[in-house]
Amino acid sequence: MSRDLASRADELRETIRYHNDRYYGADDPEVTDAEYDELVRELVAIEAEHPELVTSDSPTRAPGAAARSTFAEVEHLVPMLSLDNAFGHDDLLAWGVRIAKLIDDAITYVVEPKLDGLAISILYEQGRFARAATRGNGFAGEDVTENVRTIAQVPKRLTGQRVPDLLEVRGEIFMTHVAFGDLNDRQIAAGQPAFKNPRNAAAGSLRQKDAGITATRDLSWNCYQLGAVEGAPTLESHLTTLGWLEELGLPVNPEIRPFVDLDAVAERCRELESVRHALGYDIDGAVVKVDAVAQRNAMGSTSRAPRWAIAYKFPPEERSTILRDIMVSIGRTGRATPFAMLEPVLVGGVHVGTATLHNEDEVARRDVRPGDTVVVRRAGDVIPEVVGPILAKRPRGSKPWKFPSTCPACRRRLVRLEGEANHHCVNDACPARVGQQIVYFAGRGAMDIEGLGEERVAQFARAGLLHDAGDIYSLTTDALVQIERMGQRSAAQLVEAIDASRARPLWRVLVGLGIDNVGPTAAQAIARSLGHLDNIASADAESLVAIEGVGPIIAQSVQDYFARPASRALVAKLRAAGVNLAGPAPQAPSTDGPDLSGLTFVLTGSLERRTREEASAQLVALGAKVTGSVSKKTDYVVAGANAGTKLAKAESLGITVLDEDAFDDLLAHGRHSG
Ligand code: IVH
Repeated sequence: MSRDLASRADELRETIRYHNDRYYGADDPEVTDAEYDELVRELVAIEAEHPELVTSDSPTRAPGAAARSTFAEVEHLVPMLSLDNAFGHDDLLAWGVRIAKLIDDAITYVVEPKLDGLAISILYEQGRFARAATRGNGFAGEDVTENVRTIAQVPKRLTGQRVPDLLEVRGEIFMTHVAFGDLNDRQIAAGQPAFKNPRNAAAGSLRQKDAGITATRDLSWNCYQLGAVEGAPTLESHLTTLGWLEELGLPVNPEIRPFVDLDAVAERCRELESVRHALGYDIDGAVVKVDAVAQRNAMGSTSRAPRWAIAYKFPPEERSTILRDIMVSIGRTGRATPFAMLEPVLVGGVHVGTATLHNEDEVARRDVRPGDTVVVRRAGDVIPEVVGPILAKRPRGSKPWKFPSTCPACRRRLVRLEGEANHHCVNDACPARVGQQIVYFAGRGAMDIEGLGEERVAQFARAGLLHDAGDIYSLTTDALVQIERMGQRSAAQLVEAIDASRARPLWRVLVGLGIDNVGPTAAQAIARSLGHLDNIASADAESLVAIEGVGPIIAQSVQDYFARPASRALVAKLRAAGVNLAGPAPQAPSTDGPDLSGLTFVLTGSLERRTREEASAQLVALGAKVTGSVSKKTDYVVAGANAGTKLAKAESLGITVLDEDAFDDLLAHGRHSG
């Protein structure tokens, strides 16, 4: 067994855990379902080939992520499993062959829509609604009883003659397209951001601390699976179970159908795919289940998913529409990116009106031309893309598109250097570039000024209030209320947000300047090592490359940046505005502070004196390793306020937990008090 495979498996486990956190914890996935599934498949394949590489805490052993800490934790009476995936017909048949080997008799299958919402488990005691929980890590989830209580489709009392003593029933909470549209209309009217898709809206609505807000959101629920049951009638099949659930007054999806052979199952999956838009709610596949309970029991489950069911995932969605025009947008670095202006079309539950075309060569490769009918694709949460033209529908006499020779914003020549894919506007004063720089400075990864997004910046720039990022600090409520759609309250809020940003740590200022190649990691290293923006601006190449994590390219970019008069003028403005330009006290590259190499840390909860990123940077600077999840290999867990299951796990494994004071001791002396 190669060491490469072992470390690849480690890496996959880390990555999957991270994405689990984003998806289940933050409701803000960074990758598409397809990309995520690909990671899981790779890990499953490695672990299947090399059982010695399986770890007890591998994400393949337990579905989902640990529950977040804002809600109390609830243990499920019976664990909530996940589903294995089939991508297309062949995977589905292979599953059929696999399970057929496990039993002798013929199999009846049930095909259901795979609802794209979030899984929930509801407990009824003596027929009364008692508790509701999210899936969490499959064993324990978040207590969302009060939120779920507000959902009209969830009965508070079961009906009929066969009410059980205890029923744990699983299903999906989701939002219909109509409810989603209404909610976003209300969000926008109230000046709140719109939800990206119905799944995010459903998750966001359910996870409200104030159940009164959940009550205003029109959530739906369908159930599809039993957990623990006591005092139930004998149920020999899934269909009879669903029939019983309906009798109890629980909502069951109307599209569920039985089939006796796999070809018919595959046919139904394709059929669901073709009608998915007409259903009125999002589905991202079909779920195929074995009907007979006895057969299910014979097949059993892995720790992650039952063998008797499989999720048939739909391929990314495609739609055709008219390409009205190809335009070019200018980014903060001057990069000119062509993009498609489309006749708006609904793809995967989202209205798509624009799509990036990346660069000149990509436009040529696809040969898309204004006036073409084009195919647009969108997979999960991913950015829409133009696949290509439908040539049969190309208007006569159309010509290949030509990259414009001048910048659409400042009319100067665009430059495409030899060997480069991108055109650039090289005018430092180009209004489009400057606008994007201001947006970037105020953005979440930099100074994090809420309420100062692209549209606002464009408005303020047009009104002559913003010429560079430094001008942000001269904005006043009086000036802002003159702007269209800007009330006294939002103006005051924005000024307050701007004011708060003056105290941001130096590395955020450094990121905000938008120096080429300087992202948060490099910025933190530089800020920590040089301690003041003035030192950074005057640093020579030698002292820059001496910083761990800074190479000659970054060093050159930093020097180039501060050599420009416009940059120095910006720094002067920031200084005059009282923006913090001093970092943590400068540190010698390596010898200063204890040597923490060989130690592995996990950070959880919120610390008072530093962000988790800053704590992490401090540890890494002293040679320690920081990982995202607690395992037997973890040496210390640093826990701030509201630490969740990571803390619980550390305690259960007997790992030393440090509070922030003990952490400070450790950073200073290499050991902790207590
Ligand atoms: S059955 C043990 N049926 O898909 C089997 N799940 O990818 C439990 N889902 O966690 C799941 N529609 O949130 C089942 N008709 C359906 C479903 C469904 C959507 C979700 C569910 C599950 C996820 C697995």
